[in-house]
Amino acid sequence: MPKPADMHQHLRRGALLHLVAPMVARRFSKAIVMPNTVPPITTYEMVRQYLLEIKLATNSEYRSGKPDFWPLMTMYLTDTLEPHELRAGLDQKLVFGVKYYPRGLTTNSDSGIADPASLWSKGTKPYAVLRELADYNAVLLLHAADGFATDLWNNEGRFYGPGEELDPWDQEPHFICNTLPRIREAHPDLKISVEHLSTAIGADWLRTHGGDTLGCSLTAQHLLLDRRDVFRQGFRPHRFWWPIIQSSEHKEELCKLVAEGHPFVWLGSDSAPHPVGKKETDCCSGGVLMAHAGIELFLEAFEDIGCLHKLEDFACVNGPRFYDLKPSDLYITLVREEWSVAEAFYAEDMSEESGGLDKVVPFRLGESIRWKLVD
Ligand code: DOR
Ligand code: ZN
Repeated sequence: MPKPADMHQHLRRGALLHLVAPMVARRFSKAIVMPNTVPPITTYEMVRQYLLEIKLATNSEYRSGKPDFWPLMTMYLTDTLEPHELRAGLDQKLVFGVKYYPRGLTTNSDSGIADPASLWSKGTKPYAVLRELADYNAVLLLHAADGFATDLWNNEGRFYGPGEELDPWDQEPHFICNTLPRIREAHPDLKISVEHLSTAIGADWLRTHGGDTLGCSLTAQHLLLDRRDVFRQGFRPHRFWWPIIQSSEHKEELCKLVAEGHPFVWLGSDSAPHPVGKKETDCCSGGVLMAHAGIELFLEAFEDIGCLHKLEDFACVNGPRFYDLKPSDLYITLVREEWSVAEAFYAEDMSEESGGLDKVVPFRLGESIRWKLVD
């Protein structure tokens, strides 16, 4: 197949970046790089520095002008992100979008937006940033979750009062019903990507409103798992992401959405590695390493759904087109051959507490995967 594009990647920094970047570059021709590093990417200078680190961590030939992997940078939307910092990145064609995180609802979201109303309230910095994005035809990427009900809200028989904390499984539905329409209304010309869509109501909304200015990325985990897989015989930290895996009814709707083959639906793996100490602990971080099988797992999901013939548009064409990019003219080869994810990965860590090595548990450790990438 043509070398696909991963429109949602957490490459991290330091030792984790060096572990993950080669896995991604082997499978994908480009990747939208998430900005929720520590500290978050909020200035043009930080974009340049991070891009340089990524290039050094892949073995791609950047000097030739025709590397086989290209990182597409994003900036982190905070209450104080300066429009001129974004403009510098857009002018240099290094930055392709800005990522919205609701404060406190996912990994490294402490600098995220506390009040989503600032996105549609004139006079705020986030409002000005969204205008800048629209002027450049660049993309607002949404972590589509709310923490609290804005008004009285009834989600299929579950009632919330204004200000009441939302159940984790209702965070995306609330955002889709209450927050997304307000952003769209205030910025009708702005390209918006709903990241890692996880619910039936989200799928429905995309079906109705998806098009040139609205699309969504989908992960393999949300197509392969339902919440029984997360809680069978006990909570499985290595199957835990934000947004949280939903019930089978939601998964079926997401599978239907990809089988329908819409041009506004594309691949975003949301590979998000953590050292095992952040997973097997009192407060488990969301996110799991998927990059070791970043395309293989999508082949499996599409084969299960019975729509492998729809994979190429989903994985190679639709995402790049939304970002005004061309599909790659390179190819990768996969064979239908079972292999097992036998070993955990280790990243060198110089901090004293870890004893020199950080263990990273990949998705499906100890299990098998039906498709194999061959060089
Ligand atoms: O599960 C997740 N992990 N969801 C996110 O939104 C962030 C990511 C991470 O950075 O670990
Ligand atoms: Zn993510």
